Amino acid sequence: MKLWGGRFETGPSAVFERFGNSLHFDKRLVDVDVRGSIAFARSLQRAGVLTAGELSQIETAFESIRLDAVNDPHFFDGATDEDVHTFVIRKLGERAGALAGKIHTGRSRNEQVSLDARLWLRETCDETMALLRGLLAELLTLAEKYPNAVIPGYTHLRRAQPVLWPHYLLAYFEMFSRDYERFTEARRRVNFMPLGSGALAGSGFPHDRHAIAKDLGFDNITRNSMDVSADRDWALDYLYAASVTMIHLSRLAEDWILYSSEEFAWMELGDGVTSGSSLMPQKKNPDSLELIRGKSGRVIGSLNALLFTMKGLPLTYNRDMQEDKEPLFEAADQVNASLEMARVVAESVVLQEAVPYTAAEESWVVATDLAEALARNGVPFHSAHQIVGRLVLTSVRSGKKPADWNAASLAEFDPAFTPDVARLLDPREGMKTREILGGTGPNTVAAALREARERLAAL
Ligand code: ARG
Repeated sequence: MKLWGGRFETGPSAVFERFGNSLHFDKRLVDVDVRGSIAFARSLQRAGVLTAGELSQIETAFESIRLDAVNDPHFFDGATDEDVHTFVIRKLGERAGALAGKIHTGRSRNEQVSLDARLWLRETCDETMALLRGLLAELLTLAEKYPNAVIPGYTHLRRAQPVLWPHYLLAYFEMFSRDYERFTEARRRVNFMPLGSGALAGSGFPHDRHAIAKDLGFDNITRNSMDVSADRDWALDYLYAASVTMIHLSRLAEDWILYSSEEFAWMELGDGVTSGSSLMPQKKNPDSLELIRGKSGRVIGSLNALLFTMKGLPLTYNRDMQEDKEPLFEAADQVNASLEMARVVAESVVLQEAVPYTAAEESWVVATDLAEALARNGVPFHSAHQIVGRLVLTSVRSGKKPADWNAASLAEFDPAFTPDVARLLDPREGMKTREILGGTGPNTVAAALREARERLAAL
């Protein structure tokens, strides 16, 4: 069946139907389409278009459609309708007879598709945010498992300065907390009720739009009917939040792929999240993390797809906009699956504490601590930098590690090295000078970890 046709002498070609029909993907909106239609029917009754008896017949029919759609896996088999909205109205006709002809009174699919997608996306934001909370919690648990572990922090993938393991994980906690804010904001912005906008000019029937909003749990109503038909910002907001989240997940994945490699060897991933090789019996590959890293490309691609689709479209609705749903569904599926996967990987991580500690101890990650100590003793920082640079050069040439030096040999190397500086050859000591807020000082990190727990509990 069609929701239009009177003006046409022939129907659409088979090719165009195949090309343009969206039921195969927008059937995912069937539950929200029916819920939205029930709320619209109630509003039609309040507006005097439907009698109370007609409304109750329509509601009963809609409810049975909704239940079948949710429970019957074959419900859509053989359907050739243009889209989910058309499908639902055809079903209504099968179950409520001629009365179904009234449900679309003054309604446009342009506002309907906006409503459906908003309802769907609001619930999807809640799912994504719940998954984010799960990952945030797991990162804190993993930090609390090794509260005193020292790892080399990297810049340019070269050992830079020693940091505490919880400090490293709290960096990701911050990233995913910001993602949480972005989804909170995306949810706030999508939570406007569009019905009553008509095709673009506003409905010709006296709907109480606030009452529809209340019925469907919306905070607000949209303010401009043309904007409703033209707007997909709410989808872009979610896609952007999802893309940034995937970038964070992808960086975490990359870190852990490296850290669990034989070359780093300071982290072990559980058997449950790794795969073997069909040929090489010794392999334990980090496929779960590689897939997270790989899927990030798909999500960022989805954001770009919709950005390009929307660019330059004349107001208001254009059929191009039907292309919004597949990227949106795709991104939501991938980000949700990746968040869950990352949580399970984090659960499985075992840190071989001694390995990163040795990596820190054997390298010259304490160089900055030494230079800063000299500067605190009054040596101009530039000179301090030079002195320690020479110390590192000499050591590297002769194969010396920080532990091969002591107060006496340092003083002999350069008199600027007073005895108090030598203790900073131990990476744990230098961290104690970084009790600045936001730094890797042990007390600061312990407090940051406690504070993160509280922040998570408040989400
Ligand atoms: N299937 C369409 C979409 O997803 C519904 C809106 C159709 N409106 C129209 N004027 N053709 O965008």
